[in-house]
Amino acid sequence: MSLGLSDFAARRRELMALLGENAIAILPAARETIRNRDVHYPFRQDSDFQYLTGFGEPDAVAVIAPGRPHGEFVLFVRDKDEKKEIWDGYRAGPEGAVNEYGADDAFPIEDIDDILPGMLEASERVFYTLGNSHEFDDKLIGWLKVLRGQSRTGKHAPSEVQSLEHLLHELRLIKSGSELKVMRQAGELAARAHRRAMAATRPGKFEFEIEAEISHEFNQEGSTHSYTPIVGGGANGCVLHYITNRDELQDGDLVLIDAGCEIECYASDITRTFPVNGKFTGEQREIYELVLASQLAAIEEVRPGNHWNAPHEAVLRVLTQGLVDIGLLDGDVDALIEDGAYQQFYMHRTGHWLGMDVHDVGDYQIENQWRELEPGMVMTVEPGLYIREGSTADPRWWNIAVRIEDDVAVNRNGYEVLSSAAPKTVADIEALVGTGE
Ligand code: GLY
Ligand code: MN
Ligand code: MN
Repeated sequence: MSLGLSDFAARRRELMALLGENAIAILPAARETIRNRDVHYPFRQDSDFQYLTGFGEPDAVAVIAPGRPHGEFVLFVRDKDEKKEIWDGYRAGPEGAVNEYGADDAFPIEDIDDILPGMLEASERVFYTLGNSHEFDDKLIGWLKVLRGQSRTGKHAPSEVQSLEHLLHELRLIKSGSELKVMRQAGELAARAHRRAMAATRPGKFEFEIEAEISHEFNQEGSTHSYTPIVGGGANGCVLHYITNRDELQDGDLVLIDAGCEIECYASDITRTFPVNGKFTGEQREIYELVLASQLAAIEEVRPGNHWNAPHEAVLRVLTQGLVDIGLLDGDVDALIEDGAYQQFYMHRTGHWLGMDVHDVGDYQIENQWRELEPGMVMTVEPGLYIREGSTADPRWWNIAVRIEDDVAVNRNGYEVLSSAAPKTVADIEALVGTGE
């Protein structure tokens, strides 16, 4: 494990400094989700909760109360229960929450209705993210109501409820050295999986067989997918959220793979596109080289002080100029960019923040202006071109879909590509595809 108790404690200290005096922050853990009947989805902790506690169980609530005499970090957790633990496994219980997770104080979750209102009473402001769980929103409102109802007995209810999300997400946006270490591992593992997928691909294989290669690489490292992977051959590559992954890969087609893994709740997110038979056709190569040129230009824009949109603007310029050069668009490049003419072939943005969530938290604009990049931010750079059958392009271009996506960290000098071990030059790709068993 790269992240330890001291990392979580440091984050809580940072948050407490932002909360100020007389404030309390409340965060519920994720709940277990039913897949069908009595089968659950694999449990994944809520990212905000995980960020501040490192506590990986469901049915828990974290309270952060700066300056609270009986302890600033309180966890409500599932109580120990021998019978349940025989069936479902270990629970830390309140004692484990203190001894193993560094809580100052911990209680069984069943006791929260008796204990939390008393903690709220001591504060003026409650920081809580409304809207994620109706059930928990109602609970909080209930506790506040109880306190208000007791005002004649001298009880005091906090006068403000503020969004916790904004403060916390600004912290999550800037990654520490240990977070970057984990994200580097996630980038390297996913790059290995993409190399394995390239080596395993040949005409006649099915998309799900290639998905299985990727899953194997993740699972054997104790990792898993950070999102449902896309393995789209031919026309399927044009479907931006294709996850069916059921078709046979055809000789002469491209295949687009968008797959990333998760390590200690940190995601990677990589896309590579390559020819099923290992050799780009002339048209495929022209489109591929154009997307790659736009991606390299965009990555060069990643540095402190540049604004969030600079990489996207670089992509639009390179792609639009290239589409004019090869005859897929016609007109003045500036006017075509202004009019969004590229949108029939490039209909998404160039990236997003990356971290504990694949589409990670953090504002992209501040006061209606694209925000400046700062060291510690991590983003994807993922331009693409998707030429659908039936589009205005000459049929020789149809069903060519290319996206190239890397994970890029902003550092003091510019950038670091966390996913650079996944091949992306034409020569490197052609040398690798189909060479595996
Ligand atoms: N894999 C999701 C994305 O690229 O944004
Ligand atoms: Mn992405
Ligand atoms: Mn992706």
